Formats: sequence, C-alpha cells, structure tokens
Amino acid sequence: MRSIVTINYLGNSFKLFSESIMTYISEITNVMEYEALAKEKLPKMVYDYYASGAEDQWTLQENRNAFSRILFRPRILRDVSKIDMTTTVLGFNISMPIMIAPTAFQKMAHPEGECATARAASAAGTIMTLSSWATSSVEEVSSTGPGIRFFQLYVTKDRNVDAQLVKRAERAGFKAIALTVDTPRLGRREADIKNRFVLPPHLTLKNYEGLYFGKMDKTDDSGLASYVANQIDRSLNWKDVKWLQTITSLPILVKGVLTAEDASLAIQYGAAGIIVSNHGARQLDYVPATVMALEEVVHAAKGRVPVFLDGGVRRGTDVFKALALGASGVFVGRPVPFSLAVDGEAGVRKVLQMLRDEFELTMALSGCRSLKEITRNHVVTHWDTPGAVARL
Ligand code: FNR
Repeated sequence: MRSIVTINYLGNSFKLFSESIMTYISEITNVMEYEALAKEKLPKMVYDYYASGAEDQWTLQENRNAFSRILFRPRILRDVSKIDMTTTVLGFNISMPIMIAPTAFQKMAHPEGECATARAASAAGTIMTLSSWATSSVEEVSSTGPGIRFFQLYVTKDRNVDAQLVKRAERAGFKAIALTVDTPRLGRREADIKNRFVLPPHLTLKNYEGLYFGKMDKTDDSGLASYVANQIDRSLNWKDVKWLQTITSLPILVKGVLTAEDASLAIQYGAAGIIVSNHGARQLDYVPATVMALEEVVHAAKGRVPVFLDGGVRRGTDVFKALALGASGVFVGRPVPFSLAVDGEAGVRKVLQMLRDEFELTMALSGCRSLKEITRNHVVTHWDTPGAVARL
C-alpha cells in the first residue's frame, strides 16, 4: 500500500511515498544515515533506548568527537594494489578487524532480531557477540547456521542461572565469553526514565525464559533500571572472574576496562583479552572516549593479551585509528539495531560492508597493505608532540 512517510535528515524534513524510502535505503552511503531513518521508523521509546547515553551524554558525544581529533600520517608510493584485512581473534580467523558488540533487545528493531544479525555477521566473515539480554536465545542464534560467535554475560544474583546459561552458550557453539564489568548498576538514561521504558509485551529475555529473570515489569521510571537493580549482582568483583573460569573453559574477555590499573588486574585474574569500552556512554558519564583510554590500556597489557575497543566506531577511518593506537580489533554497537530497524539482515550486512570498504580504502590511502603494517606512526594525536596537531 502506498503511504506517505516524513523523514528528517540533516535538519531537513522530507515527505516521501513509502516506495521512495526503498530508493532512499539503496542510496545510503554511510553508517550514520541509518540512525536518521531508524528514528523515523521506530516508536520513540525504542529509538530512545537504542540511542541514549547516560545523564548529560557528554561521553556519548565525546566517543565520536575524540576520533575526529586523531589525524593521519599517511605513507605514499607503497603499491597498495592488494590489501589484506584478515586477522585472528582468540585464534579464530575473521575477514576484517570489525566485529559486532552485544546490544540487547534486537527484536524491538526487527522481528528477526539477533538471528538476522547473526546471519549478517556470518556472511561478512566476522564475529557477532550475543547479549545476555537478547530477545533470541543462544540456541536460536546458533541454529541460524555456522559462524563465530561470542556470548556476553551479565552476572546475576543467582550463580546457578549464570552457570547454566554459560553451559548452554558453550553447547550452542559460542567461542568466548565477554564478561561485562561496567554495570553493577544501570547508568541513568533519562530518556528511558521519561518514557517508562519496558520491553514490549510480545518479547522476552529469551535466554532466561521460564525463569523469574525472563520478565521485566512496568514501573514508574525505567523498567530496565528496576530489572537490573533486582537481578544483577552489585557485588561483582575480581574473584568472580576466577569463578567464571571454574565453570567454563571458554576464553574470557573483560568488557568495560578504561584504565591501565584494571587492565593489569584483568590479566592477573586470567582474562584472555580486554575490551576497552564505556558501554556506548550509557553507564558513567564523563568517562573519556574509549579511543582516549585505549593507549594506556594497550601499554599496560604489554602484548600479553589482545586489546579491543568499542564506542563510537562509525567509519573505516575510526577502525584504522583504533588499530594504529594498538587495538587488535573493534566492535560496533548502535549501527546494528539502527540498520536492523531500517532494513533487517540486509541493513546489518550493508553496515558491515560499508565499514569494510571504508577501512580498506583508509589502509590503501595510508600505504598499509596488511594489518601489521598499521603502526603508531600512521596517526598523530594532540598528546604526542605538543603543537604537532592543533587542539581541535
Ligand atoms: C549496549 N551495550 C551492551 N553491552 C553489554 O555488555 N550487554 C548488553 O546487553 C548491551 N546492550 C546494549 C544496548 C544498546 C542499545 C546499546 C547502544 C549498547 C553496549 C555495547 O555492547 C557497546 O559497548 C556499545 O554499544 C559500543 O558503542 P557504540 O558502537 O554503540 O557507540
């Protein structure tokens, strides 16, 4: 049926027939454009949940702005006719150092939710991380076909439930656990409070179905904040990283490290890798952008374990900058639910393809033919040589 849809894009409002939206989707040329389209398509409560950061959202903006303060020192005349973006993460070969971060409740964006994301990641030859709070279970995601997948764990007050879930993930073929450590309490996301955010009634937290944990009740503020307060274990500490190793043989990535001190502790407590993350700026506001915290973590890790980054990655140039500062790979968060909302699996595929193409071009224009040729000398930051880069 023909209907009229209003699109707000870059401050302009357009009225389009629904057929024109299809044309518009095919003309998307960068990852950020999906957000504008998703905003038009999704109910306000859902869009706000995906988009928001904590409190003043300073860190949310800074996650993007910080990338724009890092500049390139490209090398020339280096025969870039062949570019190899392949890499290995925890021993698994992937096609590019761009992976999918866990984002909860993907069926709010699209009926196929996490299963569509899994298929898109697999088609792109990269890793998807499934959230504990997914609206599709570990078994459902695994049944979409082959693919390298990690499982993100929130530790609850009931360690038996956690242990069962980790075992199920293991049996379903997940290859690593990303232990989220930055959420003993939920950050204050004011839009969710205003909207009285709650999971739509036709959806459940599939991994906890049948357990008390599967429900999220409507409250007079954010339903998610109340859920977290009731279910998530605030006492989570370093000993739990050891405990996790007693219940699984899967490698553990500690997700949510922002300091050298915690990087050293994570390694001491047996982490197989570190994810420098501020949870997409949704937890503690006024922490630095992840790309600002990256180098101190890399230095503390001293090459003992790989260091990854998420937060604000929207361009191939961002991927290159993170790698030049020592990351072994990056994860993307919001672009996944936004592109799912607009175009389902095809949207997520396109996000991964655009990031891949941009990253390949960045490598070529910087004179790098493989990931190992990307070095610290390919970027300059304002903390390198005072005055080398004007403070932007
Ligand atoms: C998240 N993130 C997240 N992290 C996690 O460990 N478990 C989860 O269930 C979720 N859920 C979630 C939902 C939504 C809507 C967002 C935006 C984020 C954090 C996520 O894994 C990642 O750290 C950030 O999203 C990365 O930042 P960008 O790429 O969104 O800027």
